[in-house]
Amino acid sequence: MTKQNNIKYFSPSWYYHGTLSEENKTKIEELFVDFVADDKNFRSAWDDCDNLTSYKSPTNSDVDWDKFFLYIRPNIQEFFDHMNPKVQDLSMSYLGSWVNKYRKGDHQEVHNHADLNCNLVMVYIYKSQNHNCFKFYDPDCYEHKFRLDNCFNFLYSPKITPNLNSGDMIIFPSYYHHMVSPNRSDDERITISANLFVEPKESAS
Ligand SMILES: [Fe+2]
Repeated sequence: MTKQNNIKYFSPSWYYHGTLSEENKTKIEELFVDFVADDKNFRSAWDDCDNLTSYKSPTNSDVDWDKFFLYIRPNIQEFFDHMNPKVQDLSMSYLGSWVNKYRKGDHQEVHNHADLNCNLVMVYIYKSQNHNCFKFYDPDCYEHKFRLDNCFNFLYSPKITPNLNSGDMIIFPSYYHHMVSPNRSDDERITISANLFVEPKESAS
């Protein structure tokens, strides 16, 4: 008989982790191959991190983003289906999208995308040899601050690391803190991100 464990967990968090079809992964590679190869499309990110980004770069809009959103649509639909929607029709708005490049040693600081107009973030792993760079970070997890983590094995820790391979996509609430640890590989790690807003269709019209 299994012994009952009387330690209970609460406030569960969630994120979507899906994998694109090989067909759509290939289409995205074809769509981005020239853009990603040209460093002129990238600029240094902000002060606290080292990666290159196309965010607000003058050529970011050269990408056919509508095609990209078409190719990830089956996974957006899977996300909707698995989230047990309250209403039949949901509207998804794309509020900005960009490509990040991490060379060896590059990283990104803890941050979130909290904004009333953006309630979800999507990250697509275009290319990565490091499967454990992206981490969710919970600033309200106190076990480590009060050194309880020196004493007990918790199911929960301030950092949760999804195992992300090339072709994988995650979607999570925009208020989640997250970070990218230094790329230990000699190969560039490339991600495509977007800020999203989902709402019932009748509110959007
Ligand atoms: Fe981010």
